[in-house]
Amino acid sequence: MQMSSDLFFISSNKNKFEEAKNIALEFGLKLKFLKHSLQEIQANTLEEIATQKAMHAFSICSKPVIVEDAGLFIKSLNGFPGPYSSFVFDTIGNKGILRLVTVKRDAVFRSVIAYCEKRGDVTLFSADVNGTISKKEQGKRWGYDPIFIPSGKNKTYSQLAGKNKISHRYLALKIFSNWYLDKKKSSDR
Ligand code: IMP
Repeated sequence: MQMSSDLFFISSNKNKFEEAKNIALEFGLKLKFLKHSLQEIQANTLEEIATQKAMHAFSICSKPVIVEDAGLFIKSLNGFPGPYSSFVFDTIGNKGILRLVTVKRDAVFRSVIAYCEKRGDVTLFSADVNGTISKKEQGKRWGYDPIFIPSGKNKTYSQLAGKNKISHRYLALKIFSNWYLDKKKSSDR
């Protein structure tokens, strides 16, 4: 497979990049990592946050770039922590979430990828994985992985060897990669 390799991925989160890199390779895309803590605005949607991050990222590298913003939306908490997932993880963590979720445990993990290759011009791609919040932390890995059980499985993301084949990030990157490679093909013609 011929690899396309001129695309930056900017994040301060190495775990996220490692996952994205491996997933993208499967679709024929080689991502270049630039570690940087991007401005994260307070907004009510991941889309707004990702758009701002992508514009900031492009101002840093001036090359085609993607950023990703993810969030865990718990239905019985009206979508909390959603766009505040990062802050909530850093403050109350998985233990705090487990204390808040009592009976109804349904949740959605969402990934939004924002692509920018021109100042002010951002294209968004998103995907959701439905699931539930586990009763206790199971497994290690990072972020909310130990408490999120994707639908149809009885293990958390942390315990699933194949997380990268089913995750919210996988699904969003699949949609993005198809779009990006098609776009490249037509511009190379
Ligand atoms: P952000 O996309 O970096 O803003 O992520 C928001 C929060 O969700 C952070 O606390 C991340 O650690 C967490 N997070 C994002 N993606 C994942 C994932 O795939 N698994 C577990 N936690 C995640």
